[in-house]
Amino acid sequence: MTDQYAVIGNPIEHSLSPAIHAAFAKQTGEDIRYEKVEAPLDGFAETVHQLIDRGYRGVNVTVPFKFEAFYLANHVAQTSTDAGAANTLLFNKDGIVAHNTDGIGLIADVEQNLQSPLRGQRVLLLGAGGAAQGVAVNIATAQPDLFVVANRSLDKVHTMQQKVAQIDATAVTAITAAAFDQLSSQTFDVVINATSTGLSNTALPIPDSIFAKGCLAYDMVYGKETPFMAQARAANAQVADGLGMLVEQAAEAFSIWRGVRPDTIPVMQAMRAL
Ligand code: ATR
Repeated sequence: MTDQYAVIGNPIEHSLSPAIHAAFAKQTGEDIRYEKVEAPLDGFAETVHQLIDRGYRGVNVTVPFKFEAFYLANHVAQTSTDAGAANTLLFNKDGIVAHNTDGIGLIADVEQNLQSPLRGQRVLLLGAGGAAQGVAVNIATAQPDLFVVANRSLDKVHTMQQKVAQIDATAVTAITAAAFDQLSSQTFDVVINATSTGLSNTALPIPDSIFAKGCLAYDMVYGKETPFMAQARAANAQVADGLGMLVEQAAEAFSIWRGVRPDTIPVMQAMRAL
């Protein structure tokens, strides 16, 4: 019998996840079906339970339900605890198991696909909302030389700092908090934009001097040129959008559900061509 999965969000119309998972299934020979489900804004838990009752084996979760997904689970994997949110739910005999594959997806795209290992580098993360929180622990444990998080509201960065300070691992880079206007004297090898400014076409108050020569400027948004990307490009940085992260986080979810990790490169190329 074909195993069923879905991505739940609101809105969900433009999600690439069904196309990505269909490509993974074809490549690996796994017999799955994967669809989009739009849950009402006040009906996430009910939608999940309906899918479980209908025999679904798991779901991906996207905006705005990643926090609710975390609280709905009976079991929470370390990745989900680190992020304080869940983007992948597995349904099994024990109930609902929460994972978060966003951080793994970002690191895989930056370090493997874009060949920019973070170890020993100066890394700047812009933003401290849900998207930034989902990747902060992964960046800290990749052991950059310096890890600065800049955000409009500094209280959110302080919360992230405390979380990273509590990680039980031998080598973790502590977060240095910064306001945007404190960045003018600093230079970075990797700058990651995790703010939602790309979606609203807003420029960030960041100076061109933050981009070191040969810097990788990464925007988690995909499918458009954001003001951040345009600024980084003009400052001669290497620019990447978040499509690779999207495909990598999906591959990690697929491997949690199916026990097999697909080859992401051909799927990334196919998605870019869409
Ligand atoms: P997401 O899930 O996409 O991270 P979010 O949790 O609402 O959404 O977080 C949005 C992030 O973008 C936050 O870091 C936010 O900054 P604040 O924490 O100060 O609100 C940032 N952001 C949104 N609009 C911004 C703007 N015009 N300038 C600077 N930062 C902005």
